[in-house]
Amino acid sequence: MTDTAAVDYDGLIPNNVGLNHDPRLRRALESWHPGYLDWWKSRGPDGFQGNPVYLRTAISVEPEGWAKFGYVRMPDYRWGILLAPQIADRRIGFGAHKGEPTWQEVPGEYRAMLRRLITVQGDTEPASVEQQRRLGATAPSLYDLRNLFQVNVEEARHLWAMVYLLQKYFGRDGREEAEDLLRRRSGDTDSPRLLGAFNEATPDWLAFFMFTFFTDRDGKMQLHALAQSGFDPLSRTCRFMLTEEAHHMFIGQSGIGRVIERSCAAMRDAGIDDPTDIERVRALGVIDLPTMQKRANLHFSLTLDLFGSEISSNAANAFNAGLKGRYLEDQIDDDHALAGATYPVLRLKDGRIARDEAPALSALNMRLRDDYVADAQSGVERWWNRIIERAGYDFRLKLPHVAFNRRIGEFAAINTDPDGNLLSGDEWQRRRGEFLPSGDDNAFVASLMQPVYEPGKFASWIAAPRTGIDGKPGDFEYVQLAG
Ligand SMILES: [Fe+2]
Ligand SMILES: [Fe+2]
Repeated sequence: MTDTAAVDYDGLIPNNVGLNHDPRLRRALESWHPGYLDWWKSRGPDGFQGNPVYLRTAISVEPEGWAKFGYVRMPDYRWGILLAPQIADRRIGFGAHKGEPTWQEVPGEYRAMLRRLITVQGDTEPASVEQQRRLGATAPSLYDLRNLFQVNVEEARHLWAMVYLLQKYFGRDGREEAEDLLRRRSGDTDSPRLLGAFNEATPDWLAFFMFTFFTDRDGKMQLHALAQSGFDPLSRTCRFMLTEEAHHMFIGQSGIGRVIERSCAAMRDAGIDDPTDIERVRALGVIDLPTMQKRANLHFSLTLDLFGSEISSNAANAFNAGLKGRYLEDQIDDDHALAGATYPVLRLKDGRIARDEAPALSALNMRLRDDYVADAQSGVERWWNRIIERAGYDFRLKLPHVAFNRRIGEFAAINTDPDGNLLSGDEWQRRRGEFLPSGDDNAFVASLMQPVYEPGKFASWIAAPRTGIDGKPGDFEYVQLAG
């Protein structure tokens, strides 16, 4: 095993995990590779597989110069296995093994739990590629088309990262899990992806931007929690994945920001003072802010379900075992064991939503969700509301209450409005279309989804970005459609 940060970029699988010195692992990965490529071609981006795309490829794990840009045909993308450099004498930072050296091999007693954590994370990566596969046909610009494909190839690399861990450390079980990751399919009735939000459709570009804003952000939180792991290879893998994840956040934040910017500019030009005058706004060929709010309500609530139940013994066990920490665990000032500590949890009590102190160990999902909500909230203010405010409109987008539209956890059994006020089942049915996108709303968004493939041009409903990717000019041909 080598722990140098040098990347072997010559073989079939670029890596910094010493694949050349591990023939068993190399064979396992090489035998998984053809099935992977079949998956990519049949369930990855629909079309565009032969077109050169201006993509970023990870070539190093050093903070400076870790990626290079260049035209690549997607099936030729160099999906590599890259781990952040090993930290000398790293210690387990939390749980029952706090202070012990991190594990370089799988601790036998936690084998099943660890395999499950890696498999669940791994399953989300190809799922989002599958969800987004048809979006290329309606891209609002070549810039956006390239960004979609960048996210897709990197999510696929994250699949590689998890498959590496499964095949390297879990023997035959791991190889079977790796096969299953290619077998399950987003939205499939017989063999769906493991988590709900990853079986939802991503039918249009607004959904894509909302997904990268809200759901990729859940990915970021989960990766942060796993980056704290006492199982060092998992920690190193996730730390490197986070460098790529930052760009996915950017695409979601700036994507929605550009939609809002365009809508506000069009309303101004048309002399529209009331952003809730939906008919007039839509007639301009831009997306009205109330529809943006409903889409945000949908994607936020679907994503909250990914955090699982507020009270969870699995989360407590994974923490105690030292496998999955809290968000920024190493920056928290407490005993990192949580024995006897409590944490405030929103619960349903006598038919009302109330705050309750729960054992902190059992409430770890709730805590990670709270950290997520705070992170998303600051994104909404910084990237969305600031744009509306600057345009002079008295309208604010906001995150709905955490009890709104939930399928998992404390609030799955109740209905609330976006402010968290309880609604009867009848009232929910009657008013649902006020809170969540209606068929009409979705049909309107769908009607805007016409492809724009001319370099430097953008669809009517989205503003151009401030700057190009890798400093490229506005009319840069990010995807060569003739090539
Ligand atoms: Fe990912
Ligand atoms: Fe991502």
